[in-house]
Amino acid sequence: MTDTLIEVRNLSVRFPVTTRKLFRTEVRELAAVDDVSFDIKRGETVGLVGESGSGKTTVGRAILRAIDPSDGEVIFHTHTRDVDVAHAEGEDLRRFRTHMNMIFAEGPVQLSSMAQDRLRLFRSRMSLVFQDPYSSLNPRMTVRDIIAEPLVASGMMKNRAEIDARVREIAARCKLNLEHLRRFPHAFSGGQRQRICIARALVSRPDFVVCDESVSALDVSIQAEIVNLLKDLQDEMGVAFLFIAHDLSVVAQMSHRVAVMYVGKFVEYAPTDRLFFTPRHPYTHALLSAIPQADPDAAFDPIKLEGEIPNPLDAPSGCRFRTRCPHARPECAAREPDWREIAPDHYVACHFAEAFDFTRAQAKAAE
Ligand SMILES: Nc1ncnc2c1ncn2[C@@H]1O[C@H](COP(=O)(O)OP(=O)(O)OP(=O)(O)O)[C@@H](O)[C@H]1O
Ligand SMILES: [Mg+2]
Repeated sequence: MTDTLIEVRNLSVRFPVTTRKLFRTEVRELAAVDDVSFDIKRGETVGLVGESGSGKTTVGRAILRAIDPSDGEVIFHTHTRDVDVAHAEGEDLRRFRTHMNMIFAEGPVQLSSMAQDRLRLFRSRMSLVFQDPYSSLNPRMTVRDIIAEPLVASGMMKNRAEIDARVREIAARCKLNLEHLRRFPHAFSGGQRQRICIARALVSRPDFVVCDESVSALDVSIQAEIVNLLKDLQDEMGVAFLFIAHDLSVVAQMSHRVAVMYVGKFVEYAPTDRLFFTPRHPYTHALLSAIPQADPDAAFDPIKLEGEIPNPLDAPSGCRFRTRCPHARPECAAREPDWREIAPDHYVACHFAEAFDFTRAQAKAAE
């Protein structure tokens, strides 16, 4: 058996959007995700970073088929067979969803009303988990019923005693006080609510969970607790996470590999240490140089990105990053860079990746 759990191949997601020009309205396609390929191994955490609007949430949703991909494949290697979730229909899709126990955990993102409708629909069938600890827990349900919901909604377990036993087991693993199972969520702090969300996400023992900005709303000390809890649960249960976050240092603590997105494209994907110490894409370099470092030897030469992230509707020709890239050359406008493996397990989309040396001062000194 291969240890690859999910293979995303040439995934694109386009949304119809209405634009207005003077008195004319037209419907155009917005490529929120454009031809993205990567894989996730069993039991690993893949971090996904990038500025707001780069397409991170859309990647997570499309993998779980909470939205329909426009192109490409999402292959889940289950224990018995491979399922292309992007194309599965009817009974096959239903079975896949029950089997994988698809859980969608996400933070307070702003959705268009269409996306909200879609998610509501999905939630009724799939027991979605919103990871914003303040808005995601139904105030009229007890903690026990909240955690049990995915088991009940999927029909996975019917026997009350069996459900209770499972809920108590996962609650204990999430370090929740079992006395609290009878209470309502308003009685709890942000960190406690987050533990309830995590217990609910993992109660059905899923193989894969998307955590979308799961810890972003929490205080730093509680963030660290939650990150440690997620890591412990991963070690015990072998679940794989797609961990979406703005904060690169949290992603670094949590992830085995990290992918960087820019305007619908993956620009770099590598094991965490490689990405953080020897990035090959100027955009990754820019993101890393913006992290404050107490130790100057651990810092990158600072670069400041000029201008705003482009709208996907008006994405620049060639390389999308070229309008903000300090190293852009004429070729970058003419031709889109290929997504290529520059070193084992290190993928990048930049014509000139080999030419850059973005190594940190401290790593340079060690050479
Ligand atoms: N349902 C939708 N209809 C139209 N456009 C959408 C829809 N959902 C997302 N988009 C657009 O797709 C692009 C990617 O959005 P997405 O939410 O995936 O970004 P993100 O990286 O998760 O951003 P953030 O960090 O702010 O959460 C944005 O330009 C967004 O406006
Ligand atoms: Mg998002």
